[in-house]
Amino acid sequence: MEFRHLGRSGLLVSEISYGNWITHGSQVEEDAAKQCVQAALDEGITTFDTADVYAGTKAEEVLGRALKGVRRESLEIFTKVYWPTGPGRNDRGLSRKHVTESIHGSLRRLQTDYVDLYQAHRFDYETPLEETLKTFDDLVRQGKVLYVGVSEWTAGQIAQALKIADEMGFDRIVSNQPQYSMLWRVIEGEVVPLSEKEGISQIVWSPIAQGVLTGKYQPGQPPPAGSRATSEAGAGFVSRFLEDEVLTRVQDLKPIAADHGLTMAQLAVAWVLQNPNVASAIVGATRPEQVRDNVKAAGVKLDADVLSRIDDVLGPIVERDPAKTVSPEKRP
Ligand SMILES: NC(=O)c1ccc[n+]([C@@H]2O[C@H](COP(=O)([O-])OP(=O)(O)OC[C@H]3O[C@@H](n4cnc5c(N)ncnc54)[C@H](OP(=O)(O)O)[C@@H]3O)[C@@H](O)[C@H]2O)c1
Repeated sequence: MEFRHLGRSGLLVSEISYGNWITHGSQVEEDAAKQCVQAALDEGITTFDTADVYAGTKAEEVLGRALKGVRRESLEIFTKVYWPTGPGRNDRGLSRKHVTESIHGSLRRLQTDYVDLYQAHRFDYETPLEETLKTFDDLVRQGKVLYVGVSEWTAGQIAQALKIADEMGFDRIVSNQPQYSMLWRVIEGEVVPLSEKEGISQIVWSPIAQGVLTGKYQPGQPPPAGSRATSEAGAGFVSRFLEDEVLTRVQDLKPIAADHGLTMAQLAVAWVLQNPNVASAIVGATRPEQVRDNVKAAGVKLDADVLSRIDDVLGPIVERDPAKTVSPEKRP
């Protein structure tokens, strides 16, 4: 495993981290979840990403149990707040009330006294940004949160938060967690240039496009048994990539991966790690073999020729529009 600094901070994170969206507490049984976490630890992953909302808060509980007994200092545990965690009108968003209640719930479920990174899971148009940033800053001072970050914020929103933090002396954002893969490059136009300038890293999600970039989904064929596209929890999310043109072009990446002795999953993860503004690629897995496959992307260098072959194959299906970074106008 290789390690990178999270933004301009002193914190090192594993280049590949393990995330438990859709899987823990939902798509996979607890035994499989624990095996995946153990495989991640065995392969040198130290960074784990979850969120209060995953599996209706059960994902944090599963991760807490799976990491029990592991030396806390050897781990970086990341979680998030914003999406609803209960039926109440205040069980969502980034108000002082919900953020404070949510971190307490997360710490209890994760069985830890602090999280290494606390992330605003989306931008909340219904809460003044000062209120959220002040609350995050308070949590840092209380030692419940070591670093603060955001997820899927636009460059404008990040810039606004930095300005307030600098004016008010609040702890600064060190990271953003956007979707990023060969197929989804919307951060490259605006978010990455601002982040480079401001010392903010990207911790990227769905680097394998939810499994699609493994090439296991064939055009014109039903999805393979046991895959995310056949699961109740995940089918609706992965469907965005399941179009024949996308799947056909993804099949055409196979010779490129083979020429470099990489599996398709490794090529996908290595691709996002070529961007120096990416601190870590968060991979998901339903089986320990997938974790062991994906981690081999750490430290892989892809030269300019490979990158341009990939661009030629994918052509028009790559999404680059910065306007695709969106948070709900009203709280969900
Ligand atoms: N901030 C946000 O808004 C946000 C949103 C989404 C995700 N995330 C974070 O990002 C993490 C990763 O997202 P993701 O799960 O979509 O990432 P991903 O790594 O692109 O996809 C993971 C899924 O692909 C399949 N897969 C992975 N490796 C494979 C391999 N080697 N061979 C075959 N299939 C393989 C598995 O699904 P199957 O076996 O079921 O096919 C696995 O669960 C999440 O857990 C979460 O921590 C954050």
